[in-house]
Amino acid sequence: MASRQHLSNIIPVIEVALKDANMNIRDVYATAFTPGPGLLGSLIVGVSMAKALALSLDIPLIEVHHMHAHVLAHFAEAPRPEFPFICLTVSGGHTQIVLVKSYYDMEILGSTIDDAAGEAFDKTGKMLGLDYPAGPIIDKLAQKGVPKFKFPEPQVGPLDFSFSGLKTSILYFLQKEMAKNPHFINENLNDICSSVQNTIIHILIGKLIKASEMTGIKNIGIAGGVSANSQLRQTLTEVGKKHNWHTFIPSFAYCTDNAGMIGVAGYYKYLRGEFTDQNVSPLARMDF
Ligand SMILES: Nc1ncnc2c1ncn2[C@@H]1O[C@H](COP(=O)(O)OP(=O)(O)O)[C@@H](O)[C@H]1O
Ligand SMILES: [Mg+2]
Repeated sequence: MASRQHLSNIIPVIEVALKDANMNIRDVYATAFTPGPGLLGSLIVGVSMAKALALSLDIPLIEVHHMHAHVLAHFAEAPRPEFPFICLTVSGGHTQIVLVKSYYDMEILGSTIDDAAGEAFDKTGKMLGLDYPAGPIIDKLAQKGVPKFKFPEPQVGPLDFSFSGLKTSILYFLQKEMAKNPHFINENLNDICSSVQNTIIHILIGKLIKASEMTGIKNIGIAGGVSANSQLRQTLTEVGKKHNWHTFIPSFAYCTDNAGMIGVAGYYKYLRGEFTDQNVSPLARMDF
């Protein structure tokens, strides 16, 4: 289904983008795309489109790693971070603490050993009967609730994450409460959302504090779909002030998957003349 949606939307999207930018397709001097990691069906559409554009317009083809692009979304607009900086990339498929030394010199300092932070939001949403993706819905409902339910935080390596235990403890908690009161979820939805979100954000921010302490780096950014979360954005700003950090929070448009970040990341490769050829193919999984 996702693949078919991509297929029917990709040409209209390109047309609108060109119109908004007041450009003709002939003005395009390079085409950047991501081969992955991600959902293969959707990637196939993007990769094929980028190849077709490169071939028909006779312009360079530039390959961008999806997770590098989330980090480089910070360079879409000012204020742009100074190197080195620490980036917490949190999305539906990834949770990483990245040491960014330059545009293309990045190192993963920690990552999730099981579920991603976005998955914790989405799977909680499923248990609560919310639509997918549940992250933005939980964010909204949480604003009307209080974090009165407590969930255990995982014990893993200092910069690693684990969210599957949290998922299980939320499930058991809901089962136990629903057995006592079948209306528990409906009657407490805002507070449940607030409690789950609060736990996830507390874990994420705790790891950022640790990463800053371990590296001595005070330039701190967030990226990826979950970085659109209002509590994460607000908490990072507050904690940053307390620790004298320079914090970098991308505009909403550059948090969840977007073509802008692929373009920005592609631009820095264009400057270096790093192009790829027509043999490139999409990959669901890729090394960082
Ligand atoms: N406001 C929000 N609060 C929490 N999670 C969010 C919010 N907005 C989006 N998300 C989560 O971000 C994830 C999507 O991240 P994104 O980078 O766009 O996609 P992908 O994981 O496919 O690369 C989903 O899990 C979604 O629930
Ligand atoms: Mg993404």
